[in-house]
Amino acid sequence: MKVKITEVGPRDGLQNEKSVFSIAQRKTLINDLLKAGVKHLEPGAFVSPVWVPRMAGSDKLHKQLSKSVFSKYKNIRATYLVPNAIGMQTAIDSGVKDVAIFASSTEAFAQRNTNCSIKESFERMTEVVNMAKQNKIKVRGYLSTVFGCPYEGKVSESKVLKVAEKMFDFGVYELSFGDTIGVANPKQVRSLTKKIQALIPNEKIVMHFHDTRGMALANILASLDCGVKNFDSSIGGLGGCPYAEGATGNVATEDVVNMLHQMGVKTGLDLEQLVKTTRKLEKSMGRALPSKLSKIKLS
Ligand code: HMG
Ligand code: MG
Repeated sequence: MKVKITEVGPRDGLQNEKSVFSIAQRKTLINDLLKAGVKHLEPGAFVSPVWVPRMAGSDKLHKQLSKSVFSKYKNIRATYLVPNAIGMQTAIDSGVKDVAIFASSTEAFAQRNTNCSIKESFERMTEVVNMAKQNKIKVRGYLSTVFGCPYEGKVSESKVLKVAEKMFDFGVYELSFGDTIGVANPKQVRSLTKKIQALIPNEKIVMHFHDTRGMALANILASLDCGVKNFDSSIGGLGGCPYAEGATGNVATEDVVNMLHQMGVKTGLDLEQLVKTTRKLEKSMGRALPSKLSKIKLS
């Protein structure tokens, strides 16, 4: 059995780190990740630099990566987060071939994250998707706060499924379900996953767990037991979400890879190179990252 991992550290991770990474440092990190066998990744975002300063310069980054990094590897999918037509135009002008649109399951998070209602976010996404179609750009989707919202608390499954179905109708090639603030538990994951699978083909479902309460690996296992084969994770467990106070990073890529490899599930990723990358990051950031694997001697 094989699982597909999308590395979101350079976007979801760095967007919320105190450390400022230069374009050159972001490029080096991505190069290290590709060396570890990463094929699917999010290098950055074309969002407002006022709202998320750490993602500024993603256009420059993409141009540099295309010129001297991606060309060394085969079949790399580099996806950039795009919130509106302005971001999409930058993506087009930069030669990007893959973007991710994003929406929230709750009104309060939509307002805090994108300064608009869910309805308005769908109007923006319609524009983005039309621009993508005209320019033969692939579109991935994200739905946030599917297990809980920092402002509204519990989120009903029916609410999530309603927005998910609408997003899927955009023709996204994958839809990633975000536990934005890491509140999910395995029982809840099993229940929602089965309902999502009744709505969306399994191969297009992605689970995106933040590890705020240390439940992400258990939640991945619960999704895996339901048949899900796509997960997002972040090198070292970098990051969080700038509009979800208290949210820590995504589950660490190397911890997910270690669990899967121990269970005989293939990922195509090189665990040692992932751990090396995290240790290098920890050194340059001057702090320990949440990763478990980076703290032990690998045998
Ligand atoms: P706004 O301030 O309402 O935008 O922000 P506006 O349309 O009113 O424009 C205001 C100014 O921003 C204008 O410039 C625009 O040109 C500029 P001015 O005329 O004042 O000089 N502007 C832009 N500049 C660059 N790129 C753009 C852009 N758009 C407008 N794309 C906006 C609305 C959506 C832009 C803003 O709220 C935003 O960028 N939000 C993104 C926040 C974000 O990135 N959050 C994190 C990612 S989502 C996440 O992490 C969750 C996920 O991981 C899944 C999970 O865990 O659940 C995906
Ligand atoms: Mg996230």
